[in-house]
Amino acid sequence: MRPIFTNNFLNSPLGAGGNKGSITIHSPATIANMVCGFDVLGFAVNEPYDEMVISFKEEPGITIINEDEYDLPTQPELNVAGAALLAMLEEITEPVGFELQIRKHIKPGSGVGSSAASAAGAVVAANRLLNERFSKEDLVRFAMNGEKLASGVKHADNIAPCIYGGVTLIRSIFPLDIISLTAPPLFVTIVHPQIEVRTADARGILKQQVLLKDAIRQWGNIAGLVAGLLQSNYELIGRSLEDVLIEPVRSILIPGFDEIKQQSKLAGALGGGISGSGPSIFMLSKDETTAKQVEKQMHSVYEKLSLEHHTYVTTINQTGVKFVSP
Ligand code: HSE
Repeated sequence: MRPIFTNNFLNSPLGAGGNKGSITIHSPATIANMVCGFDVLGFAVNEPYDEMVISFKEEPGITIINEDEYDLPTQPELNVAGAALLAMLEEITEPVGFELQIRKHIKPGSGVGSSAASAAGAVVAANRLLNERFSKEDLVRFAMNGEKLASGVKHADNIAPCIYGGVTLIRSIFPLDIISLTAPPLFVTIVHPQIEVRTADARGILKQQVLLKDAIRQWGNIAGLVAGLLQSNYELIGRSLEDVLIEPVRSILIPGFDEIKQQSKLAGALGGGISGSGPSIFMLSKDETTAKQVEKQMHSVYEKLSLEHHTYVTTINQTGVKFVSP
């Protein structure tokens, strides 16, 4: 990484007050919805994560350098990290330029918050360069512009856990009301079948009306899950991991979904479901041995279907975007 600073810039109020080096971060994958909490619950995981390096550049504006194989756009307006940074720049009066290098490990369209990792990582790193000028809530607001670009709507259930870490409840996005929830130790098994589901498409197929009886069941589950997390009640967490609104529609896009769920529960998982808008599936377990048993079951279902896939056994990431240097 090559930090570029002119004497003029370093003498400017922003340059003098700002961080003059480059910032390296890891931006984690996130699991939105947490089964029953469509658009309102999400948590960050320790694996996988994207790597990013940001520095000031001489000219105002944003330069994006992709260092991975995904061939994502480099024009800031078309790139989710760029869209988030542009929203941030709108609230900075001084002329500022950022150069952002991105090495993605979270495959776009995988359902584990790839776009959120780019958008949230970029603004958290830029904010460190700016000596933490903005609050976490501001950063969520900026990063949601990346989600709007990726999926057509602003939602914060990947962005918020990516920035805050842990499990987050997004009670409202207009105005933003984000609540961090405590949770007992949980192991997370993720399987990513190698197909792509665009969030915009997975949202497009959802019904716009729900039956009152289904809504009642769903909000009972959301309340049960939140209570289970706060009380470290694994049984309550397990029985609240049920989605009667979204999963019945979206699961048809995911090969082997029902069997993976069934076999994972037989292997001892507390429960789980579609990760975000899919196609990844996640399962929560109380201990690592069970989480690895669940992984074996996932492998065997997809091997039977001859479907290429990747798995992760990981834990909840409590810190969100991590500064690697400085
Ligand atoms: N809540 C969003 C959805 C998350 O399910 O469409 C997308 O990752």
